[in-house]
Amino acid sequence: MECIKSLRGSYAFVAINKSDDKLIACRYKSPLILGIGDGEFFVASDVPAILEYTNRVIYLEDGDFVVLTTNGYEILNSGVKVERSVEIVPWGLEAAEKSGYEHFMLKEIHEIPKVIEDTLIEYVSEDILLDVSFAAGISEITFVACGTSYHASLVGKYVLEKMADIPVRVEYASEFNYHNIPFSRTLVVGISQSGETADTLEALRLAKKRGVRTLAITNVLGSTITKIADYILYTRAGPEICVAATKTFIAQLMVLYIISAKLSPISRSELDDFVLKLKMLPEKVQKILDEEDEIRKIAEKFANYENMMYIGRGIGFPVALEGALKMKEISYIHAEGYPAGELKHGPFALLGENTPVVACVVRDNTYEIMLSNVKEVKARNSPVIAVAGEDDDEVEKYVDFVIRTPSVDPVLTPVTYSVALQLLAYYAARKRGCEIDKPRHLAKSVTVE
Ligand code: F6R
Repeated sequence: MECIKSLRGSYAFVAINKSDDKLIACRYKSPLILGIGDGEFFVASDVPAILEYTNRVIYLEDGDFVVLTTNGYEILNSGVKVERSVEIVPWGLEAAEKSGYEHFMLKEIHEIPKVIEDTLIEYVSEDILLDVSFAAGISEITFVACGTSYHASLVGKYVLEKMADIPVRVEYASEFNYHNIPFSRTLVVGISQSGETADTLEALRLAKKRGVRTLAITNVLGSTITKIADYILYTRAGPEICVAATKTFIAQLMVLYIISAKLSPISRSELDDFVLKLKMLPEKVQKILDEEDEIRKIAEKFANYENMMYIGRGIGFPVALEGALKMKEISYIHAEGYPAGELKHGPFALLGENTPVVACVVRDNTYEIMLSNVKEVKARNSPVIAVAGEDDDEVEKYVDFVIRTPSVDPVLTPVTYSVALQLLAYYAARKRGCEIDKPRHLAKSVTVE
């Protein structure tokens, strides 16, 4: 305990003293859990690591110092004994197994219809059950998040602004500290599937220090973000083992749709209509999964390229960003997401037969201009793959391949298109022989700033 006083920064570690059979575990700003088994204990940074042995877990808090012996455990904080409640993790063991799939990533993509259903069961029945008291009296929302959760936030911006008419900013959590954001009547929303991303936690702490109301959207019960934020909403995706986020991204989108619908001034019948569209998503996604072989064939054709561009407009833009992120992180193909209108301001110079372009073509007010952008790309000899709705018989005239997805309301295309792009990345990475579930240099929880 003496040496802890001289430690600086964030840490979570275990120390063993062989001479007295004692194990010490402590944490500060890094995740650490204590699993309570039958006559045995486990210490880990994340629940899936111990699910095989127990689902009874204590989420340790900053400064906790656990002393484990063969007789039991004791938790101290600042030298004083503390009690921490034992939580029952609602995840079955099968969640942490591949269940016949070649990779966790593929398994987790295939779980998406169920994840959507579970999220809807949690928050929607005839009506939207979500309590939105976190938004009472606010005049704007600022999202803080990283990586895929940042892209979910960008989708949230489009949807909230369109449906609920609330001004929304989206900040990279790691940049939040450097911006002078006016805070009056702002709700700061931190999105983090792990609930442990250091940058997102710091951004929320900063918001709280400035007296701003905070909401966390996370997939992990008891994670650090739930200890910081004033309000918590859980996504119901179950544990995600693959480093690349797939089903948790879709679960985040679902929660954002539900918040937007609840805050929207739309009429009862419009709301019913929207809820019905949400409820049809599992079957729409299932159709993409049933026909994934078509996506595999396209992915394998493009697996040998070293550079790719993803473009989109409006709500298609964050979809392009997320598609590119998925491709680069698991296949190591350099993939950039761009607003389609920005290509002519520089990236055109990179186009050509060695740079395929994935175009996310949404049938809304961006459609015509997006087709013009696709033609511009083709004129520069880039092979083009369009992701489009099955009812779009125009786009195929201008592109080399079309990934067809079931038709949905344009506002819901981030769900269907993203599942298709996750599969595109997966099969390209598989063809390249990459370590899909554990890409090089990456971690599932990024606990350093
Ligand atoms: C990409 C990916 C990462 C995470 C990012 C934030 O597939 O998984 O970009 O989205 O590290 O993680 P969370 O959501 O846990 O805060």
